[in-house]
Amino acid sequence: MLWTNRQEEVLGLLDVRAGAEVLEVGYGPGGLIRLLEPTRARRICGVDPSPQMRDVASRPHSEEVLAGRIDLRLGTAADTGFPDEVFDRVVSVNNVALWPDLGAGVAELHRVTRPGGRLLIACHGGTRPTFLSRSNALSEDKLDRIERALRGVFSEVSREDSTSLTSFTAVR
Ligand SMILES: C[S@@+](CC[C@H](N)C(=O)[O-])C[C@H]1O[C@@H](n2cnc3c(N)ncnc32)[C@H](O)[C@@H]1O
Repeated sequence: MLWTNRQEEVLGLLDVRAGAEVLEVGYGPGGLIRLLEPTRARRICGVDPSPQMRDVASRPHSEEVLAGRIDLRLGTAADTGFPDEVFDRVVSVNNVALWPDLGAGVAELHRVTRPGGRLLIACHGGTRPTFLSRSNALSEDKLDRIERALRGVFSEVSREDSTSLTSFTAVR
């Protein structure tokens, strides 16, 4: 599940600036949280519905969790539990296909993103996917639906296909 090399590519696309507040949706075992920890982000938050994933993802960061810089909670894309307009960066990796209601997830992530902030949705795919990526890649129809849902609420939306990653960046 960790998909480590692509997580580094996601971190580059996310462009986390000093002092940023970041939310990861569907952090799973915490591969991207581990890469975010040494950045200059002020606060690294996450939501995932799995208590097991929360325990696994939080474990390597006990001091940062106690200090409140890393805050991994139970929640979903459609119900993060965070206040309006608090995050500079919101990111979801190999997770959007699991949202039961795409529109509700996009609306919620728009709500928690600051004006001028960005949502990055990344998933298996790209122009030359590996065997693993190909078998998990979303159909063009599903990717079109994601792009349309983002365009419905965010001001700027772009799609990028690298060799084995398809991603959407949406600016609020
Ligand atoms: C395939 S894993 C990806 C984990 C991580 N992002 C990664 O790339 O390694 C999907 C994660 O999404 C979580 N998930 C399932 N339904 C979700 C939802 N509706 N909203 C947010 N996360 C969800 C699962 O619990 C799981 O941890």
